[in-house]
Amino acid sequence: MNTKFSAPQQLQHTGFEDYELLDSGNFFRLERFGKNVIKRYDPTLIYKAHPKRTEIDIAAKFATGKSGELSWNVNEKFNEDWKVQYLPSVKHSKDRKPLVFELGISGSKNIGLFPEQASHWQWLAHKIATAQHEVNVLNLFGHTGAASLVAAWAGAKVCHVDSSQAAINWAKRNQTLSDLTKAPIRWIKDDCTTFVKREIKRDRVYDAVILDPPAFGRDAKGRTFKFEKDIAELLGLVKQVVSPHPSFFIMNSYATGLSENVTKNLVADQWPQAKIEYGELTLREKESYGRFVSCNTFARFAFNE
Ligand SMILES: C[S@@+](CC[C@H](N)C(=O)[O-])C[C@H]1O[C@@H](n2cnc3c(N)ncnc32)[C@H](O)[C@@H]1O
Repeated sequence: MNTKFSAPQQLQHTGFEDYELLDSGNFFRLERFGKNVIKRYDPTLIYKAHPKRTEIDIAAKFATGKSGELSWNVNEKFNEDWKVQYLPSVKHSKDRKPLVFELGISGSKNIGLFPEQASHWQWLAHKIATAQHEVNVLNLFGHTGAASLVAAWAGAKVCHVDSSQAAINWAKRNQTLSDLTKAPIRWIKDDCTTFVKREIKRDRVYDAVILDPPAFGRDAKGRTFKFEKDIAELLGLVKQVVSPHPSFFIMNSYATGLSENVTKNLVADQWPQAKIEYGELTLREKESYGRFVSCNTFARFAFNE
């Protein structure tokens, strides 16, 4: 099927019971991650928050402090032992332990997990669990390992790449917490473009690729990744490490001002025959409010559809 006839989608995170978007608006998101309710500044949420929303349970707030800088303000309600569980819904889920992810606050609003990605976690877990053969996954810009661990949990062999040692250490802690220490995961600290070029020279191939590049990133050696400038080259390289019997491909984009069509068209440049699903990953406010918050654009497809 030709990709130009498909329509954009707004994927909603589902099945992640330890996460709730309690409200949004007035430049903030109010969210519950497991035991902690947090409030985080988001400059894009320029509409009104729900008038009756209660902020009584907030344990930590990321907002402009007295210095004028954005920082975290944590109070006595904050539970330091901060973890969330996630159980993908596939055939054998009931017999399996959930994944466990550690969360934490640092200098930025990032707490180590992007809950909207649950839309992809469920999709990829299903693809891997129902595949006819073992799926060998390459996860580029893998961060604290959520997608890598979901893939391993579902039965895949995983190669996880990120340029930050701190992110890789965090991902390994999540691996231990999730009881996946024996799972076949290679943790690689490298610049993604450099790594994929090396894999091409070594004739290594993968059945599935997950690509979650930031709008802008810099590695320990000062090499930068700028989405608008570098993504097309990286996609061309990624195409060269796809195996002859591939399973799936996922890409996200956080680049400001680039639409979902740009994300899809970039992917279609490399795989013009693929039946690409694309659109936005969203979070939905809890039931009584129900508004959608857009988080990033995505394009994904299964090679055999
Ligand atoms: C948007 S986050 C990925 C989020 C993650 N996939 C998740 O769902 O939790 C981007 C990640 O890319 C990493 N990164 C940035 N520039 C990089 C580069 N040039 N090569 C490899 N990793 C890079 C960062 O360290 C960060 O962990």
